[in-house]
Amino acid sequence: MAYLNDNYLKLRAGYLFPEIARRVASFCDTNPDAAKRLIRCGIGDVTEPLPEAAIAAMHKAVDELAHRETFRGYGPEQGYDFLRKAIAQNDYRDRGIEVADDEIFVSDGSKCDCGNILDIFGHENEIAVMDPVYPVYVDTNVMAGHTGPANELGAFEGLVYLPCTPANGFVPEIPSQRVDIIYLCYPNNPTGATATREQLTKWVEYARQNEAIILYDAAYEAYISDPALPHSIFEIPGARDCAIEFRSFSKNGGFTGVRCAFTVVPKTLTARALNGESRPLHPLWSRRMSTKFNGVSYPVQRAAEALYTQEGSTQVRALIEYYMGNARILREACMEIGLEVYGGVNAPYIWVATPPGIGSWDMFDMMLEEANIVITPGSGFGGAGEGYFRISAFNSRANAEEAARRIRAMDL
Ligand code: MLT
Repeated sequence: MAYLNDNYLKLRAGYLFPEIARRVASFCDTNPDAAKRLIRCGIGDVTEPLPEAAIAAMHKAVDELAHRETFRGYGPEQGYDFLRKAIAQNDYRDRGIEVADDEIFVSDGSKCDCGNILDIFGHENEIAVMDPVYPVYVDTNVMAGHTGPANELGAFEGLVYLPCTPANGFVPEIPSQRVDIIYLCYPNNPTGATATREQLTKWVEYARQNEAIILYDAAYEAYISDPALPHSIFEIPGARDCAIEFRSFSKNGGFTGVRCAFTVVPKTLTARALNGESRPLHPLWSRRMSTKFNGVSYPVQRAAEALYTQEGSTQVRALIEYYMGNARILREACMEIGLEVYGGVNAPYIWVATPPGIGSWDMFDMMLEEANIVITPGSGFGGAGEGYFRISAFNSRANAEEAARRIRAMDL
């Protein structure tokens, strides 16, 4: 009999969002009337149609594929030059950040990239994650065999958990011990917190002093409205020597179903080989892409490119303002009933403390049963998430308004 990867057996029963979906489906089966009024504020999935600029570009690209003269087969595994250039120019160079076109690697999602990046790292690394944490960072390390088993609170042996609480503004303190890889995510999923330039500077300094690497997930950067906040880790001097950045078109262009994202791996970034030599990671990631990936489809890359046109960026801005309008409505409703509320200002997630004595999953059940609203229990993001729940602002305006009305009517 063949052997399986035992590391998978260490994982908690289900990935958080499928587990929520399972519980919601079971509630709907037994409560068909309540099911009809269900409002989903759980998973951060977009609801609004794609920007017209993206649709037009996709149509045009599909038409090109319909003709022998303009047909395309396999594209470059790292992404078409037109998109790599549009990204590097618009998201970085136009903002005064040094990033070359070929430091951009186009992919089908940040979730995939955050997991796949482990392919180019050794098993010897000490790994730090924030707590609460986007579960993908943890689970992919478990799958790769970088941890021992989980304890009764779900924390995995071998990972360094960096608590993120109201006291530190949900930005972890620099650890007292040495770590080699640190996952940071700002604007943060799930807390909706942001990190200042000063806070990121401390992390970059720590990483450089300890020859560590920061895996910086900036999937929600487009939601930053405060001009003082950094959008990219590469705004911090020295970050090119110690960071990889993940970005996505899912939450700005509404591409969760279309699939397109990118990862920035600076050519100056190095890590140690087992023989002690310091080697660049850029060629390893490029090699990984060409071996295990065949690129994002041509129409999708053209659609992503169109988000950078004047028309496209105006439409993206309107989408973001729409969702942030929802965030404001939901945030205010929670505040009005006396809940302690975080996030939802420069991020589409609202992080809410549960009333005293009510656990995260109890709150999930109460919201589902009493208000027919799906939220995400904070404990699903780690031990430090217990006592909180997350509300996603990705919804129609009508649903956000109705959810706010039901929240106000709750007896908490
Ligand atoms: C979430 O709800 O946390 C997001 O949808 C996760 C993701 O983008 O994968």
